[in-house]
Amino acid sequence: MTISFKGKVAIVTGAGQGLGRCHALELARRGAKVVINDLGGSVDGTGGSSAAAMKVVEEIKAAGGEAIANGASVSDKAGAQSIVDDAVKAFGRLDILINNAGILRDKSFKKMELSDFELVNNVHLLGSAYVTKAAWPIMNDQGYGRIVMTTSSSGLYGNFGQSNYGAAKLGLIGLMNTLKLEGQKSNVHVNAIAPVAGTRMTENLGIPPEAFAQLKPELVTPAVLYLCHDDAPTGTIIEAGAGYYSKVQIVEGKGVKLSQNATLEDFAANWDKISDMSDAKPFSNGAEVTFKIFTMQ
Ligand code: NAI
Repeated sequence: MTISFKGKVAIVTGAGQGLGRCHALELARRGAKVVINDLGGSVDGTGGSSAAAMKVVEEIKAAGGEAIANGASVSDKAGAQSIVDDAVKAFGRLDILINNAGILRDKSFKKMELSDFELVNNVHLLGSAYVTKAAWPIMNDQGYGRIVMTTSSSGLYGNFGQSNYGAAKLGLIGLMNTLKLEGQKSNVHVNAIAPVAGTRMTENLGIPPEAFAQLKPELVTPAVLYLCHDDAPTGTIIEAGAGYYSKVQIVEGKGVKLSQNATLEDFAANWDKISDMSDAKPFSNGAEVTFKIFTMQ
């Protein structure tokens, strides 16, 4: 069965190149009308021009698709709003938002300036929140919406030199976890992709050329489009790279219920049970954990 996006209007942020460009081209090829947002700066977030976004728009048009460019920064509140406004102005609705724009400012935490911590969080975490906030009422009011956050294994598991980026990327999972609950009754689904791809962002990380060649951004796009199609799940994280695809979940161990007078020594004596992950399970919301605490024998 072919999955179509005909009649859908999509925004892809940071779509001037790399992963965002691939997602946008494939959405357009499958019939979506796409807003190509890109600030057009360098990997560290400096500079900017709408040339990158325009180029992708031309590519889509040349292939018979429909697209417009938006050169705003997602980390600017008015800019973020303009991306959503442009979608509605040009195409009359908004169905899909792929929060993909991103930058890097890698340094060990000891050497990192707080301004680099803030900038990276402003683009990834706040930028995604700003654009999502602008799209949210439209999607909820029309009873349809698909949003994809771009997270990273750096946030899920850690990566040396990426405390700023990892914090922002896991923050997006926190945002998704609540939005999946708040969007559910209006058929607004929110998922996350953890990509691994050879792009300008990863070209200086010392990845061997053979591996880099396999890490085609085009191989991440099927997972992203699945996460924003009509039958998409909600609250799901997918890791994707070089043809590998897997669901990722946060799980909690079985744990142990100690007495109302539990002390540090009781905790220490029960460490083996507390840290045993053999019966680990995911939860679909925070209240389930509270329920478990009060019902556990
Ligand atoms: P890229 O550098 O090729 O593309 C990122 C795009 O975002 C650029 O075109 C850039 O101009 C744009 N951008 C940056 N700041 C912006 C802003 N404030 N407003 C609007 N656009 C902005 O990087 P790549 O690899 O395609 O990354 C896409 C996303 O995937 C990012 O969120 C990145 O953190 C994430 N990611 C990538 C991985 C990889 O292996 N390439 C691994 C994990 C996550």
